[in-house]
Amino acid sequence: MKADVILGLQWGDEGKGKVVDVLAGNYPVVARFQGGPNAGHSIHFGDKSFVLRSIPSGIFREDALNIIGNGVVLDPITFRQECEALIGQGIPVKERIYISRKAHLILPTHRILDAASEAAKGKSKIGSTLKGIGPAYMDKTGRNGMRVGDLEAGDFMQRLESLRKKHFSVLRQYDYEYDPDMDLQEWLSAVEYMRGFNFIDSEYFVNKVLCSGKGILCEGAQGTMLDVDFGSYPFVTSSSTVCAGACIGLGLAPNRIGEVYGIFKAYCTRVGSGPFPTELFDETGEELRRKGFEFGAVTKRPRRTGWLDLVALKYAVMIDGVTALAMMKSDVLSGFDKIKVAVAYKVNGRECAHVPFDTYAEVEPVYEEFDGWGDLSGISSYGDLPKSFRDYVEFIERQTGVPVKILSLGPDREQTIIR
Ligand code: IMO
Ligand code: MG
Repeated sequence: MKADVILGLQWGDEGKGKVVDVLAGNYPVVARFQGGPNAGHSIHFGDKSFVLRSIPSGIFREDALNIIGNGVVLDPITFRQECEALIGQGIPVKERIYISRKAHLILPTHRILDAASEAAKGKSKIGSTLKGIGPAYMDKTGRNGMRVGDLEAGDFMQRLESLRKKHFSVLRQYDYEYDPDMDLQEWLSAVEYMRGFNFIDSEYFVNKVLCSGKGILCEGAQGTMLDVDFGSYPFVTSSSTVCAGACIGLGLAPNRIGEVYGIFKAYCTRVGSGPFPTELFDETGEELRRKGFEFGAVTKRPRRTGWLDLVALKYAVMIDGVTALAMMKSDVLSGFDKIKVAVAYKVNGRECAHVPFDTYAEVEPVYEEFDGWGDLSGISSYGDLPKSFRDYVEFIERQTGVPVKILSLGPDREQTIIR
């Protein structure tokens, strides 16, 4: 069997959690392969709502095992909070989660470093979620990091002290006040809590699952435009959010990848700093934010909003090798008289259909306009959707060369059309 991948094609918050939850029933294993508690994957069913941070969105399925892969950076404190909230809802997390020994740990001092670095950047700050993601990945690639498997080592406390010392020496370069023992006791207690979980060599585990004829669903966090290589650098996160990240973050060979589900919103949002060519600063942007409830699931920050950007979407489809698209939050566009889509950019007065290298370039979107559509509630088959809506979907399919197989018409599991 192959491993299928779900990932965001924009700047995060595309609705990946919902799609994983909808598809998870078909997969015995769901695996997160990168990112950490900067993610906030919202899931709604019945009268219940959850926001998952590091735990894969297969956790609600009785028959699914959830892997936290080696590519993830895990904060024991948030992990424990997340687990306890789920246990409170009757979900047996310990039986359903396996953690890679090679996943890196986020220390409280990583969060301090994140805050100090952002404060020092001033106006040019990234707009990080301040969860310690960047500093934790810096320690990983700098070969200083601590991993989940280190919890099983006799000298865990010495390793911790030595890494903390490194962090304090870096912090001396910043003019930043902090409490060196911030959250340390809570972190140590959460580390003890984590010891009750199954730690595995997940690269062996996932390959065995595939060899035994079972499928895996790999759940990406953030989005392609936040990828450390291909996103709008430096306004990106610190991991590989693209499809290749699933290989690296789980130990899967590239020929093990099957379907690649690319998730995008019918419009665009971005939270934090960085370029956003189709951003709207007017009443329409405000309406998108209000109707789409576009506020960060993690940081509660209002998200920036704008029209769909096909230049960026086609770029993401290319980098990720997307085989099926899922268009989310279609209902949010209901009631707009006209809907716009960027089909090209004007860069320094010249039209192009290329994401420019220079993040700071003046980019002006070239739009095509579509008729809006009305209320979509209660519609459960593609053929019953308004013609203007189908025109929009089919235009996106022609432009990207990829079928839109999943359409989300509302937050609930049930408000989904699978073509
Ligand atoms: P999900 O998985 C949206 C953004 C931050 C910031 C930049 C770097 O819910 O889609 P970091 O904390 O990684 O150093 O922040 O990336 N960002 C996200 N935006 N959704 C996310 O995750 C994000 N994770 C990080 O706002 O601009
Ligand atoms: Mg989010």
